[in-house]
Amino acid sequence: MCGIVGYIGNRNDVGSLLLNSLKKLEYRGYDSCGVAGISDREILVKKDIGKIEEVDKKLDFSSVKGSIGIAHTRWSTHGGVTKENAHPHLSNNKKIAVVHNGIVENYQELRNFLKENGFSFYSSTDTEVIPNLIEFEMRNGKNFEKATIDALRKIEGSYAVLVLNADEKKLIAARKGAPLVLGAADDGHFVSSDIPSFIEHTKDVTYLHDGDVIIFGNSLKIFNLLEDKEVIRPVDTVEWNIEQAMKGNFDHFMLKEISEQVETIQRAVEQDKSIIFEIVQQIKEAKGIFFVACGTSYHACLTASYLFSKIAKMHVNVVVASEFPSYEHFLTDKTLVIAVSQSGETADVLEAVKTAKNKNSKIISLVNVMGSSLHRYSDQSLMMHAGPEICVVATKTYTSQLAILTLLIYALVGKYEEGKKELKYLWNLIYNLTSANIRERIKQLSERLKDSNHIFLIGRGLQYPTALEAALKIKEVSYIHAEGFSGGELKHGTIALIEQGTPCIVFVSEENEKEIISNAIEIKTRGGYIIGVASKNNEVFDFYIKVPEVGNTNPIAQIIPIQTLAYQLATLRGFDPDRPRNLAKSVTVK
Ligand code: F6R
Repeated sequence: MCGIVGYIGNRNDVGSLLLNSLKKLEYRGYDSCGVAGISDREILVKKDIGKIEEVDKKLDFSSVKGSIGIAHTRWSTHGGVTKENAHPHLSNNKKIAVVHNGIVENYQELRNFLKENGFSFYSSTDTEVIPNLIEFEMRNGKNFEKATIDALRKIEGSYAVLVLNADEKKLIAARKGAPLVLGAADDGHFVSSDIPSFIEHTKDVTYLHDGDVIIFGNSLKIFNLLEDKEVIRPVDTVEWNIEQAMKGNFDHFMLKEISEQVETIQRAVEQDKSIIFEIVQQIKEAKGIFFVACGTSYHACLTASYLFSKIAKMHVNVVVASEFPSYEHFLTDKTLVIAVSQSGETADVLEAVKTAKNKNSKIISLVNVMGSSLHRYSDQSLMMHAGPEICVVATKTYTSQLAILTLLIYALVGKYEEGKKELKYLWNLIYNLTSANIRERIKQLSERLKDSNHIFLIGRGLQYPTALEAALKIKEVSYIHAEGFSGGELKHGTIALIEQGTPCIVFVSEENEKEIISNAIEIKTRGGYIIGVASKNNEVFDFYIKVPEVGNTNPIAQIIPIQTLAYQLATLRGFDPDRPRNLAKSVTVK
């Protein structure tokens, strides 16, 4: 998803400062990038398609001098991947520059209106209406601040925007429905889509609310469009540091984050007990429980639904967030909606929460990003405490979600301490699951699988969502077609695709060993190459990955080797696992 960052302060090297910040936003996924600064009351824009490193080599972002500037990584939604569509975008008089994350839903209407008023457009983006609308307002005699506020009021949709004005040498930042954080450093202010882009300069951050407009002048003021008044937002201190957000000795963030699970699962389990028990109470009081999430977070919820059934003998609904509106008829003020999202900014999840709020349902969330929209919209939140997850694909946050949800379900049946004990036992085993030995073993498998056209994965019960998540991991980074099935389901159609040597990963647990091995035999009989993820070897396996049997925490243990497999398949096939094509870290559009 697009990333934006701006700086205003005392330094005179805004171009190189923003270049450094932009690199920290690369993980969000992008296809073009750009920087703008002010030189002699003119705006200097440098932008193009391609990786930051390539574009910088060509255009030299550091040659943008001065103490005020904005920058952007674009993940295209409206308009193709072209230099013209890259941000920043200028107003017709070239005095205003804008970078934007989000979608201006009424841009066609605004564009037609501006065209009727003599404006020309040079890109096919929705964003270009913003600087021109501000210019239009200024032509009517308003100053930059008033013009920007009035223009923002006319925009429907979502945005995090940074607006630069050459004449007044001013910066304005605003958000509605897309993330934006302010960082106050000793020598100036940063405003960005995400904290890693400025954490080396400051740990003092302010999370902006929807409708907030920051006007950077002699002093800084925040005006809220929805409340129609000036507001004060608290300053928070982030707990993690730049090393945690950076790669360290690892080749990729994905591998670093897989390895971090030794600690992140531990942190997830060391939750504030009182919040767990408050949520337990709400679960008990609720009439109807819905889990909503997308992608990997959805798989964590699906796993939780099996645990609710197995441990608490309780039914919960699990709905992919984008499908949630179809269920709104079942929502009342007694319904509890549990929204799970790493980023807390996934548009489909936020929309589902809005639907539930309209019905006065209670919202509980499980998020990793403090101050994210979901965190703020919820009645109560549990934090994952996994630290920043930079790789686009989710690894450590998935196992944190599983650990926290497992603990919650144990607490629900009065077995909080027992749950904690099981999870503590598990985290001691994680060292081994992320060790160099296991990586070596899985490398042999990756060599065998790297040219496969398909990989199928099966599991029963708790292992079924694991098969779905493992398939997602493999396909999103290695681009090999992978599909997860419940053990019995493959033979209802897809088994037709099994040929000599087709790989099939089989997740085995003590509970379902007999049935799943029998499914593995069915596949092997048709020529399938069977990879067993199990606590003991079996003659049907052609390749065996040993994972300890840990009962209800099997889903955490069993996914880790497959995260490693996905990572290795990607690197062996020459792909960057941190930035898979077409994917974005937080999907802030519906
Ligand atoms: C997969 C992945 C995505 C996200 C999904 C939801 O590796 O990262 O499927 O899980 O986009 O994101 P969050 O959890 O931020 O709502």
